[in-house]
Amino acid sequence: MPEIILENITKMFTKTAAVDHLNLLIHSGDFITLLGPSGCGKTTTLRMIAGLETPTEGKITIGDRIVFSSEDGINIPPNKRDIGFLFQNYALWPHMTVYQNIAFGLENLKWSKADIASRIAELLALLKIEQYSRRYPSELSGGQQQRVAIARTLAPNPKVLFLDEPLSNLDAKLRLEMRTELKRLHLSTKATFVYVTHDQLEAMTLSTKVCLMKNGIMQQYAPPLEVYSQPANLFSADFVGNPAMNFIDAKAASSPKGAVKLESEAFSGVFKPKKPFKLDCSDVVVGIRPEFIGIHDECQQGLDATIYSNMPSGMETTVKLKVGKAILTSVIFRGVDYPVDMKVGINFLGDDILLFDRKSGIKLVYGSLVTE
Ligand SMILES: Nc1ncnc2c1ncn2[C@@H]1O[C@H](COP(=O)(O)OP(=O)(O)O)[C@@H](O)[C@H]1O
Ligand SMILES: [Mg+2]
Repeated sequence: MPEIILENITKMFTKTAAVDHLNLLIHSGDFITLLGPSGCGKTTTLRMIAGLETPTEGKITIGDRIVFSSEDGINIPPNKRDIGFLFQNYALWPHMTVYQNIAFGLENLKWSKADIASRIAELLALLKIEQYSRRYPSELSGGQQQRVAIARTLAPNPKVLFLDEPLSNLDAKLRLEMRTELKRLHLSTKATFVYVTHDQLEAMTLSTKVCLMKNGIMQQYAPPLEVYSQPANLFSADFVGNPAMNFIDAKAASSPKGAVKLESEAFSGVFKPKKPFKLDCSDVVVGIRPEFIGIHDECQQGLDATIYSNMPSGMETTVKLKVGKAILTSVIFRGVDYPVDMKVGINFLGDDILLFDRKSGIKLVYGSLVTE
């Protein structure tokens, strides 16, 4: 199965770069998500790999073949890129039934009638649309049509699958179910998936690696849990995770034994980096995930805080806290009902508290934080 390599891929639309010098190595069997806000260049990237959009500059290699090179004037058309199927166009043929829509591509590939029938039965069951096989697209809901489109894409067992926001029209419950199915499908097909989404949770839960983009520029390319706990910069940190990470502006000064003294409107404290690092800026941002703020019911313990709002959802509770002049968000894994204005004590747990350079936004280091 092919490896996909993008080298310095740029796409200019008029004067602005939709994708800006993108370098990406997709290993065979990976489940890559291109993640980022609307307009950041995800679809354009996917279309360039597929050959539907011509890069302004750069080189794309699929397997051992260069499929695009601006320097050498190579541009292999989409149908010759050996990239299986494409999932760009959800439009089903309106004059064909569900069955015929899925069968169409397989007939073109000269599959036998019996093989087509058994493959379609398998797919209809997988996507839970058995009862619609004789219906026409106009007789289906948007979500059902989308499932037919997914079935059609999967039908020929493609080696590389491109999926552009395939679950966006489904309701929340079905989306969750389809996520599970897609993940199982990835394992069972052993195909390479290149998946586009703006939904950070979808990217987190599905992919082996996330390529996070902003304004056409890659921000980070790493496994989801690494993006979560080791975000490369403030944008990554803020984009991934819900509720979002707490960001607190602070003044930093070196203190003995490699520690950092921090002063902010929420707390004063000492930060102990996990790895040695050299502090060369005084304006930093402290990043704290909500689950790393522990709450004690007695305010004698830790830093003084006041309950600002409390949102129990059953399994977990999102608590907003007034700490000094700042409002911080904590998530606790159980249902609690703190009354508003109750005085509590908080502390910062673990050693995955992050320090960012405020000016560049780049992550400096992570470690533990003890308040004074
Ligand atoms: N055919 C086009 N002509 C001009 N601008 C385009 C075209 N396609 C995309 N763009 C622009 O390129 C940028 C990236 O678009 P796109 O790749 O579709 O983003 P995403 O899929 O991340 O939402 C956007 O600013 C968009 O407006
Ligand atoms: Mg898009």
